[in-house]
Order: sequence, then C-alpha cells, then structure tokens
Amino acid sequence: MKYNSPNNNTNKPDNIDKSNNTNKPDNIDRSNNTDKPHKPYEGIDLSRLPKHVAIIMDGNGRWAKKKLMNRVIGHEKGSETVRSIVTSCRKLGVEVLTLYAFSTENWARPKAEVAALMLLLKKFVISERDALHQQGIRLEVIGQKQKLPEDVRQELDASMSYTSRNRKMCLNLALSYGGREEIAHAVRKIASKVKKGKLAPDKITEEIIAQHLYTRKLPDPDMLIRTGGEMRLSNFLLWQACYAEFFFTETLWPDFTEQEFLEMVKEYQNRDRRFGKVVCSSNDLSQH
Ligand code: FPP
Repeated sequence: MKYNSPNNNTNKPDNIDKSNNTNKPDNIDRSNNTDKPHKPYEGIDLSRLPKHVAIIMDGNGRWAKKKLMNRVIGHEKGSETVRSIVTSCRKLGVEVLTLYAFSTENWARPKAEVAALMLLLKKFVISERDALHQQGIRLEVIGQKQKLPEDVRQELDASMSYTSRNRKMCLNLALSYGGREEIAHAVRKIASKVKKGKLAPDKITEEIIAQHLYTRKLPDPDMLIRTGGEMRLSNFLLWQACYAEFFFTETLWPDFTEQEFLEMVKEYQNRDRRFGKVVCSSNDLSQH
C-alpha cells in the first residue's frame, strides 16, 4: 500500500498516540507538525518508536528472476522501495535509517552487476538530493567510502555536505560495508593510539571501541529488518546489533511496502526489551 500524504506534507501524522512522549532527543527538530490523521499510523505509540531502524534489503535478484528479468531491473525496482521507506521513516519520526546497500562481499559479484549497482547508487544520490533536503534528512555513509568509484564518491560527498545541517532524520547508507572490516578498522585506530602513548590498554572499554566504529555518532539499531526470507546477519552491524529486535520477512525487497514496515513497528512496540535484565515483582523473589 502506498502512503498518500495529504497535501504532500512530509511531517508526522496527528493520529499517532503522542501521550507520554518523553524520549525525544534534543537535536531532532519536531516543530512544524501540522499533518492530518492518516490510517496506517493508527495503533503506533510515538513515545516508543525505534530511534534507529537498520535494513538488509535482500531479494532484488530473485524478484527479477521470478519475472524473467535481468537482476539489475530488480535493483532498480529496489531503489524505488528505498525511496518509499525513507519517506515512511521520516513521516513516522524514526531518527536514523541505515540501509545495507553494498557489502564488502558484494565486490565479488559479476563486474557488470557491480557497475550497475554503482550507477544506480549515483543516480539515486543525484535524483534524491533535493527531496532529502526538503524532508530535512541528512545523508551519511558508513563503510569503505574510499573504495567506491570516484564519480560516486563525489556525488555522495556533494549530497552529504548539502544535507549536513538537516536534523529531522539521518539516512545512513552502508556502502562497501562489512561488520568485521569495521571492527578491524577500529582496532587499527585504537592500536595506533596505544602505540603513540595516547591511550593505555587498560582504558580500552566498550565505549572506546564504539567510538572508533563508523557508527560512532549514531545510536545502536533498535530494529533490524531483513527482507527476502534469509535469516542471517551477513556481516551487518555485528557490534551494534547486540540488542536489536530482529524482523525477518519472506517479502522480496522490491515488494516491501510501507504497510508491512508499519506492521513491524507495531510488533516492535509489543516486544518486551529487557536488555539482559529481568523485570520481576516482589512475589517472584519471595518464592525462592
Ligand atoms: C541484495 O539483493 C541487494 C543488494 C546487494 C543491493 C541493494 C541495492 C538496492 C536496494 C538498490 C540501490 C540502493 C540504493 C540505496 C539506491 P540480492 O541481489 O542479493 O537479491 P537475491 O538474494 O535475490 O539475489
């Protein structure tokens, strides 16, 4: 189902339950909220939104194969889904959306497919530049940006600097990204500081490691979605997904809709996130 905003307004709808909304960060501008009610948001509690949603967009190739089309057509259709889910997240009030767009392992795909993906990425970055800016979305990249083709990097840099002051949402593209590579990269940076005497080995904490990851400025993901039916992490956000809630769907990425995404958000809000702790009453304790 396609979200059809009244007056093409990009702000959040008013029919979300905004009572008891205490977890808003200070650097997100939520002013100018003039939207009209819209059905898909019914039942979503704004006070318990995931701050960070991360998505493994899988199934483009199979989508194309089912239609006897070239895999590249699947990626093209997938980039339309990207546009729609970015807007959904923005309208809902998600602060960070991380999309696994190209992994360190994806370089091993046939040259023509890699070239097509890079071209698609470049086209997307150019065509969406103004739309992202108008929606108050900041573009960021995690991964080995230096490995991307020069022309793609230039367009990414242009969009990142153009949107850098936007605070409504961060669209974070994982490009030439691998979780293990990210950790190795962080370890190299930490080791270099230790070697120079800037950091004592016994001062290396979880926080220090997190501060050296590509995601150092971002909260950990609350929801991690994988489309396409596989149930694995595939080297995505290995450190950060520690307490993420996982959502797997058979839906192939080009067919993934705002409606299915919002159903997942509702399910997320029904999950009991304990972060390894127990919630117990005095009755529970008195029985032991
Ligand atoms: C996995 O599907 C998907 C990718 C490797 C690329 C994802 C790229 C896009 C969604 C489009 C471009 C991205 C942006 C941000 C504009 P697959 O090809 O592995 O599918 P399969 O498992 O069915 O073969």
